[in-house]
Amino acid sequence: MHPQQRLENHTLNQRRVQFDFSQTPEHWIYDNPFATHLINAVHLILPVGELWMCRSFNEALPYVTDEKLRSDVKGFVHQEAHHASAHKVAQDYLRYYGYEIDEFIASLDLIFKQLNTAPFGLALAKNQEYRWLTIRVGIAAAIEHFTTMLGTWCLDDKPWQNKTADAMMSDLMTWHLAEEVEHRSVAFDLYMHLCGENNKAFAYLQRQTIMLAVAPLFTFAIYNCFKKLAQQDQHAHPYKNYGLIRALGHTAIENARSKQVPSFFSMIFSLRHWVKTSYHPYHEGDTNKALQVLSHSPAVKALTKLRAC
Ligand SMILES: [Fe+2]
Ligand SMILES: [Fe+2]
Repeated sequence: MHPQQRLENHTLNQRRVQFDFSQTPEHWIYDNPFATHLINAVHLILPVGELWMCRSFNEALPYVTDEKLRSDVKGFVHQEAHHASAHKVAQDYLRYYGYEIDEFIASLDLIFKQLNTAPFGLALAKNQEYRWLTIRVGIAAAIEHFTTMLGTWCLDDKPWQNKTADAMMSDLMTWHLAEEVEHRSVAFDLYMHLCGENNKAFAYLQRQTIMLAVAPLFTFAIYNCFKKLAQQDQHAHPYKNYGLIRALGHTAIENARSKQVPSFFSMIFSLRHWVKTSYHPYHEGDTNKALQVLSHSPAVKALTKLRAC
């Protein structure tokens, strides 16, 4: 186990929060269709990816010999599974407003199905299966780097506050991103554990290669989803024909103007940490800040009250 993990004597728990979007307006970030559709991309992309991570981590569990890491992996799986369920409720909210999203979700699902135990339908030998498992967990660690960066941005900049956005959707996004910061080290620790103490150089080279694929694919998936949603909204007229570069550039403008979306460039700039041999997600976020924000979440408070009854 990475020594930094021992600094945090923290147990991951699932918070079974619930959200009701029946009163949430179509542009839940008020008067801002660009920011609304960009952030709504999360509702479509993450549930498929999160359930895929849960399956891969459950497959990895028999190989985990460290008790603390086993408990962290189980906590991670419980949290991610509940994130996926909560965003599925938000998918219904998009369907209610007439957005056609099912074809996009089905194609994403198909892509992730190709990345299961038998990749692209190939039968692997036992040692190849294990190597493929380390790659899948490495892909999860690369995705978690970005969700940690999004979470840190959310905790620091506090978007969607002060009546700039719908309180219910803001609560969902803030709860999710705070838990991303809370469990930010688990995928990386699991990846390093599976690669083994004696294979640190290989683990480093493999995770750099993985990021070379994940960063552009993750960016393109978010852009593609944003575009699909914007094209179905007459109020998003100025943005619906934005090409990739223009849309990414606009995130920086919108970040400076309204602070309602993260700048794409700050996400990419964060990769200067990932390329370091000393990289560990522990240094990329603040657990205490995440727990403090979670304790103020209306959905978490309602759950705590319910448990107390
Ligand atoms: Fe998540
Ligand atoms: Fe996560």
